[in-house]
Amino acid sequence: AIEQTFSIIKPDAVARNLIGTINARLEAAGFQIVAMKLIQMSRSDAENFYGEHQGKPFFGPLVEYMTSGPIVVQVLQAENAVLKYREILGATNPENAAAGTIRHDLAESMSRNSAHGSDSLSSAAREIGCFFEQSEIFSK
Ligand code: CMP
Repeated sequence: AIEQTFSIIKPDAVARNLIGTINARLEAAGFQIVAMKLIQMSRSDAENFYGEHQGKPFFGPLVEYMTSGPIVVQVLQAENAVLKYREILGATNPENAAAGTIRHDLAESMSRNSAHGSDSLSSAAREIGCFFEQSEIFSK
């Protein structure tokens, strides 16, 4: 089925001028970018977005990092978008990511791993709602 998934181009990738590189990979893979903006998350945005990780040892550093600079938030649409994006992203830790994936090719570390993609359709709906109004999503 045609699905929408939520994507973040993280601070490390924005800082290294990789927005275009990542968008080109997304479009080449068949995703339509149906919503997109450059923003900087507030502390409360990040704590809410990463709520499921609250209490984990990396939660504090994750919030610090994700609020440290501008990011690109986007909604990607494609057939089977959730799984398809996870596949081209590669494993969370770039050391474990398959050759040719975004994280293998571009990421710096487990934290500075360049991009985020929703892990399920229900996460995608929740995550999209954290940053976009329905009127900002251009899907036919
Ligand atoms: P992502 O899956 O996009 O969202 C949660 C992020 O937490 C994850 O990417 C990693 O960048 C980051 N992170 C840092 N340390 C860990 C860890 N030990 N396990 C999982 N995620 C981690």
